[in-house]
This record gives sequence, C-alpha cells and structure tokens, in this order.
Amino acid sequence: MTVRIRLARLDDLPSIMHTENSCFGEESFDTSVVHAFLVRKDSFVLVAVDDASVIGVAMCHCSERLSRGRIASVAVVGNHQGKGVGTTLIEACEREFRKRGITRFTLEAALDNVRAVRTYLSNGYRIMCTINDYYSHGRGAYYMEKDVTMEGKRVKVKVS
Ligand SMILES: CC(C)(COP(=O)(O)OP(=O)(O)OC[C@H]1O[C@@H](n2cnc3c(N)ncnc32)[C@H](O)[C@@H]1OP(=O)(O)O)[C@@H](O)C(=O)NCCC(=O)NCCS
Repeated sequence: MTVRIRLARLDDLPSIMHTENSCFGEESFDTSVVHAFLVRKDSFVLVAVDDASVIGVAMCHCSERLSRGRIASVAVVGNHQGKGVGTTLIEACEREFRKRGITRFTLEAALDNVRAVRTYLSNGYRIMCTINDYYSHGRGAYYMEKDVTMEGKRVKVKVS
C-alpha cells in the first residue's frame, strides 16, 4: 500500500464526508463545517490517498494569535486503521502547522476512545485535563497538547 498525504481540494468534499461519516456517524461534522475547513485561510484539511481513493482525513485550525494549532478531527477508514495512516496524518498536520510558524498543537479525544488516545500518546501528545460533557450523550474528553518548543528542554522546578 502506498499512501500519499496531500492538502485537500474542494472536489474532495464528498470523499471527506464519506470518511467522516464512516468513522463518526451522527457525530460527524456537517458538510458546511467541513466546507469551511476547506476554504478558510486559518484552517486546512489533509487527505491520505491510496491509489485514487481517500482513506484518511485530518482537519485543522490555526490560531496565529495564540500560536496554537488544533487538530479538530483525524479519521481513517475502518479497513485501513492500525497500519500507521493516522500517525502519518498527524505528522503531516504538524509539518503544516510548523510551516505557518505554529509549534504548539492541541486536540480533544473522547475518554473512551482508547485507540485514538493511544495514537496521540504515541505521537508525543500529553493529557492536560479532562472536559466534562464534551461530546454528545454526555461523553467527556481529554484535552491533549504537544509543544515542540519544549521537546528536549529541562525545566527547573523550585520546591520550597
Ligand atoms: C484513531 C485513528 C485516527 C488512528 O489511526 P490509525 O491509522 O488507526 O493509527 P495508527 O495505525 O497510526 O496507530 C497509532 C497507534 O494507535 C494504536 N493502535 C493502532 N491500532 C490499534 C488497535 N487495533 N487497538 C488499539 N490500539 C491501536 C497503537 O498504539 C499505535 O501506536 P504504536 O505506534 O505504538 O503502535 C483511527 O483509528 C480512526 O480513524 N478511528 C476512528 C475515528 C476516531 O476515533 N478518530 C479520532 C477522533 S479524536
């Protein structure tokens, strides 16, 4: 399998919606929201493409004011999960953020979404806090963050 990651175009919208719906069902973003991610200057969408088909999607928002990039959604179609596509998408999002001068990345993951939380932890994200009632049906979320400017730095802590 040769997977290529590229910035999504407007004509990818049906394939993106198909991927989103297959992964998130009733919790998928609406088409209008995905459309906004595609056209707004402060956001971008990446697709993972195998031959001609979209097998994964990542949607991101950039806050230059806060110097923070938020990965709003990562989705890999069922039969392609567990093969490194999600990790490749996350790495590509981070490269795209860095091109825009952003080195602090954030995301949310449902408390019970073990696979997603493991994926983010193994990509260097840390759990910062939990958010109650973040998703539908009262499901809570972890708020996770990765700050590449802190990587490898020692922080002095004074204990009194
Ligand atoms: C979460 C998701 C994006 C991860 O993408 P993926 O391509 O399956 O993940 P990868 O193959 O890159 O694996 C990354 C990590 O996930 C974990 N993982 C992968 N397959 C797993 C499985 N079947 N069971 C448990 N953990 C698994 C592993 O810890 C792996 O880390 P490793 O490098 O230490 O092995 C994907 O599973 C998905 O689309 N899920 C449905 C939608 C979703 O929940 N998105 C996240 C919303 S916050």
